[in-house]
Amino acid sequence: MKNTILGISSGTHDAAVAVVHEGKILFAGHAERYSGIKNDPNLNDALLADATKSLPRYTYFESIAYYERPWARYMRQLYSGEKFLPSKQDYSINENFDNKMKKLPVEYFNHHQCHAAAAFQTSPFQSAICVVVDAIGEFDCITIWDAEYDNKGVAHYKKVWSKSYPNSIGLLYSAVTAKLGLRPMDEEYIVMGMAAYGQPKYWQEIYDSVDGNFNFKHNFHAGLPRDFCKGADPYDLAASVQTATEKLLLEVIGVAFDYGSHKNIVYGGGCALNCVANTLIEESFDQGFWIMPNPGDAGAALGAAALAYGRKLNWKGPYLGHDMGDGFYPVDEILKELLNNQIVGVAHGRAEFGPRALGNRSLFADPRGADIKDRVNQIKQRQEFRPFAPVILEKEAYRYFNMIKGEMSPYMQCVYECWSPGVFPAICHEDLTYRVQTVNINQHAGLYQLLKAWYKETGCPMLLNTSLNIKGMPMVNNRTQADQFQNAYGIKVIS
Ligand SMILES: [Fe+2]
Repeated sequence: MKNTILGISSGTHDAAVAVVHEGKILFAGHAERYSGIKNDPNLNDALLADATKSLPRYTYFESIAYYERPWARYMRQLYSGEKFLPSKQDYSINENFDNKMKKLPVEYFNHHQCHAAAAFQTSPFQSAICVVVDAIGEFDCITIWDAEYDNKGVAHYKKVWSKSYPNSIGLLYSAVTAKLGLRPMDEEYIVMGMAAYGQPKYWQEIYDSVDGNFNFKHNFHAGLPRDFCKGADPYDLAASVQTATEKLLLEVIGVAFDYGSHKNIVYGGGCALNCVANTLIEESFDQGFWIMPNPGDAGAALGAAALAYGRKLNWKGPYLGHDMGDGFYPVDEILKELLNNQIVGVAHGRAEFGPRALGNRSLFADPRGADIKDRVNQIKQRQEFRPFAPVILEKEAYRYFNMIKGEMSPYMQCVYECWSPGVFPAICHEDLTYRVQTVNINQHAGLYQLLKAWYKETGCPMLLNTSLNIKGMPMVNNRTQADQFQNAYGIKVIS
C-alpha cells in the first residue's frame, strides 16, 4: 500500500489522472479540459502539472497506478482481431512525464476492479456488492465483486461473477449508437435522450439476442448484424435498445443479489451514466446505493489510485479538477444577470470530475417560460430533443418532483417526474422526466446561496443548469477558455 499515488487512465478515450494522498483525493481531472480535444485519450503537460501542484510541500508521488493491465488488453485485442498497436500512452512511461515521474514504480490493476474500487472506496459503506458494467475492459464486460474492509481498514475484493468479451451490454448500446450515426463510446447519452421520442418496438428482438446467462448471440463489437431490427425508425431503435438495456441491467442487479441480498450496492462502469436505467435500478431495492459521479473510464484513474492506497477514500465531492481560485462564489453577479432575464455562465473554483456540470462550470438560466429552451439551444447548438437539467434547493425538491422530502440527487444520476411540467418546459424531457441536481449548503455553499437568493427574489427555487462549453468542445476549464466562450456567444461568464 502506498500513501501518495498518481492514478492514470489513458490510451483509449477520455484520459484522466487522480492524486490520492493519505486517503484524501487532492486532485482529479480530465485531459480533454486542458487540451481542448473532446475525449482526448492522451495525457498532457498542463494536466500533469496541475496534478503535481496539488501535492503538499516536500511530497512527491510514491507510485503510479494504471487503470488497466495493458498485456491483458492486448491479448483481448489479439483474440478479437482488433488492430493490435501498443501505444506509448498505454504505459506510464509517457512522453509527458518528467524524469522524476519516469522513475516511479508502476502498478497495473485489473480494469473492472478499478471501476469497482472507484465506486466502493468513495462510498459511505463498510461492505458492498460492486456491480460493474461497461463496454469492455481487458476481457471483462460485466463483473460483480464482493467488497469489504477488514478490521484494519484494508479493502478486499472478491470477484464472484463475470461475463467476458463479447458478452457486453455496453457494446450492444454502442453498436446502436454507431448505427444511429453517433460517436460510440461518447454519444450514448444522445441515444438515451432520443429514446423518449420513440416506441420500443424492437426491444424483444434485442433482448432475445441475449440468453438467460448473459451470453450474447452476436458480437456487437462488430456493429449491429445486417437485418437486425430491420427498417427501424432511429427513435424507435433508440427506445428499443434503452428498454432492452434497462431489462438486462435489472437482471444483472438480480444476479448481484444472489451474492449478498442484505448488502449495499455500488455501481460503476460506463453504463452507470445511463440515468434512466439508474433510476429503475435504484427503485428496485431498499438498501444503500452509490454511484461515484464519474463511473466511466476516466473515473477509473481514481479507482486505480484507490487500489494502490488500499483503504477508504475521503470523498468530499466531485469538485476536484483545475482550480480557478477559491474566492467567494459570485452569487450577486450571477443573480443580477438572471434577474435581467439573461443567460449567464459561471467558471469558478475547481472543475467537476465527471461529465456533468454541477455548478462550477455551468450555464444558468431561468427555467420558466416557453422560449428559454430555444434560447439556450441556440447557444449550445445541440439537438432540440435534448432537455436541460434543473438545479434546485434540496429541501424544496419534493414540492416540484416525484421525490421524498429530503431526498438527495447531488450528481444528476437519476431522473424524476415533475408535478407541473407545463411551468418548466425547458428542463422537461419528452417522457416528462427531469434529471435533477439537488443542492444543500454542505455540498456547495455558493450554489446553495445563489438558489436561495433566486428563490427569494422570484419564488422559484430552481435554475436551468447546463454545461459551459462551446459546441463540440469539452467543458470550459480556465479563464482563457471562459473568455473564448464569452466572445463566441456574447454570454457573460462570471468567475
Ligand atoms: Fe471501463
